[in-house]
Amino acid sequence: MAGNSNLGAAKSAKNDEFYTQYADIEKEINAYIEYNPDVFRGKTVLLPCDDPEWSNFTKYFAQNFETLGLKKLISTSYAVESKQYKEGYQLTLFEEQSPNFDENKTRKNGKIFVLDHDTNNSGRIDINDLEWHYLEGDGDFRSNEVKALRNEADIIVTNPPFSLFREFLAWIVEADKQFVIIGNMNAISMKEIFPLLKGNQIWLGKEFGAKEYCTPNGEKQKMGNTCWFTNIDHGRRHQPLSLMTQADNIKFSKHKEIKGKGYMHYDNFDAIDVPYVDAIPSDYTGIMGVPISFMDKYCPEQFEIIGHPHGDAGVKLGLKPYDRKLKQINKGLRDGDLYYITKEGIIELPYRRILIRKKQ
Ligand SMILES: C[S@@+](CC[C@H](N)C(=O)[O-])C[C@H]1O[C@@H](n2cnc3c(N)ncnc32)[C@H](O)[C@@H]1O
Repeated sequence: MAGNSNLGAAKSAKNDEFYTQYADIEKEINAYIEYNPDVFRGKTVLLPCDDPEWSNFTKYFAQNFETLGLKKLISTSYAVESKQYKEGYQLTLFEEQSPNFDENKTRKNGKIFVLDHDTNNSGRIDINDLEWHYLEGDGDFRSNEVKALRNEADIIVTNPPFSLFREFLAWIVEADKQFVIIGNMNAISMKEIFPLLKGNQIWLGKEFGAKEYCTPNGEKQKMGNTCWFTNIDHGRRHQPLSLMTQADNIKFSKHKEIKGKGYMHYDNFDAIDVPYVDAIPSDYTGIMGVPISFMDKYCPEQFEIIGHPHGDAGVKLGLKPYDRKLKQINKGLRDGDLYYITKEGIIELPYRRILIRKKQ
């Protein structure tokens, strides 16, 4: 057990160091610009938890400073001594050869990179105009020093350490800032995050699904289940899903669970189970339990989110508790989880559902 949890901790420390690829950043940011070409104009953008010498976030925003119309770009990095996973870290020539290099600070202090004017008289503001110095502290986003930068910024963009995602999002929300950040899809059902999604205060970005990241050693690493979280509008979320009616799903669905059969009704809640997002019936007016990946297709003009029905949240939504007989049959049943019983008498617990209803 101890071995396993050490392995888990090591894996999560390493995941905290994954770097995002330039093309993924560009594709996502383009979605906001397509929807509103002036979305970044005159804005101060902060890229915290970033290693500007390695990071493509800094590269992307610095290279596109003028096209985006930015007022100021600030990016900060976290000191190597404070990182849980230090392997693969190397002092860059850029730092070592800079007049600002300080061997007492290089491992213990974070760094700040600022871009706001043409420093080299090239006639344009670009990546060559970035100025840097060491931070007083280690660059922890929770420090007063980085908090002050957050307060100065209009928009915060980064791929924060996965293990601190909840805390990071709360840090942005408490300052009421606009943001575009990468997280794990599992964060959708977290109790601090789901209410924000349900209330349309935050939503998923345009791109979704498995992405490839770089490890600190520059190797490519696949990471399924990551998505962008944001509160900046983009066009995808206003495109309704194109769906078939219940009758057509039963006739034509490509899913064997639906075709010729129809939808199961939960035994402890008045809703039907829809096991695939593309099988959501367009004409059903009651509540439906749909997979969590629905959030990626969610259009607030088409559907409303009722809740997510697992554990305590399910109990609060009014899911009927299991009767004793069922609990004896299946000891794993937890009050607050949706279930239905198949014709063959099998208790089915659909995995991670969100309850939605068609907007009238
Ligand atoms: C997932 S990596 C992403 C790096 C970069 N933003 C990118 O996507 O290319 C997260 C970064 O946050 C740093 N980090 C970890 N804990 C931090 C903290 N408490 N405050 C600030 N940065 C932190 C890690 O060392 C790492 O550099």
